[in-house]
Amino acid sequence: MACKRGALIVLEGVDKAGKTTQCKKLVQALQQEGRAVEMMRFPERTTAIGQLISAYLENKSDLEDQTVHLLFSANRWELVPLMKKKLEQGTTLIVDRYAFSGAAFTSAKPGFSLDWCKKPDEGLPKPDLVMFLQLSPAEAALRGQFGEERYENSVFQKAVQQNYEQLMKDPSVKWQVINASQSIEDVHKDIITHSLNSINTAHNLPLGALWK
Ligand code: TMP
Repeated sequence: MACKRGALIVLEGVDKAGKTTQCKKLVQALQQEGRAVEMMRFPERTTAIGQLISAYLENKSDLEDQTVHLLFSANRWELVPLMKKKLEQGTTLIVDRYAFSGAAFTSAKPGFSLDWCKKPDEGLPKPDLVMFLQLSPAEAALRGQFGEERYENSVFQKAVQQNYEQLMKDPSVKWQVINASQSIEDVHKDIITHSLNSINTAHNLPLGALWK
């Protein structure tokens, strides 16, 4: 390899856990150290597929649950060439949600197994680290009302949380649980420590394939 590759680092968690705030703080802190780092998020709503997903989430359209699940996955696959290029060039990617959201959210719907939900994302670039921002439903409720989009209610979020717990039992993925009930700064300190370790380790490892 001409240069050391970047790390693929994902933040996951239920709504209100602070994923987006922490992703932004992490990117800023790493960039300030002079590192090549960029943020990505899924769904990436700006693409044609992303716009279909966005309309669905905003209740402006209806889609079969299977259809939207596959669109979420296709939205990740369409960005794989870009992700691989950046990682090979040495840029670390900090990603707000990934295939784990896909599996945890759809399998919270009636009639969907976790195995079925994972299938379309098999073989995606495997994250070097997935940090799960852990926050109890009670603490999430204290952080204010849920928004207006689909899935933003406490019953659904509890089911999502249970599915994440199932996913975290898989030792083929490097999970790190972060206590998201701490202050924003303390959560940030934990996240940066784990990220720096992951960046240093990833340099010497080939990029893996998820769930394969
Ligand atoms: P956002 O609020 O982080 O933009 O995420 C939009 C919603 O989409 C959120 O409720 C989680 C859900 N989601 C899925 O159902 N499947 C997926 O694959 C992803 C990435 C998100």
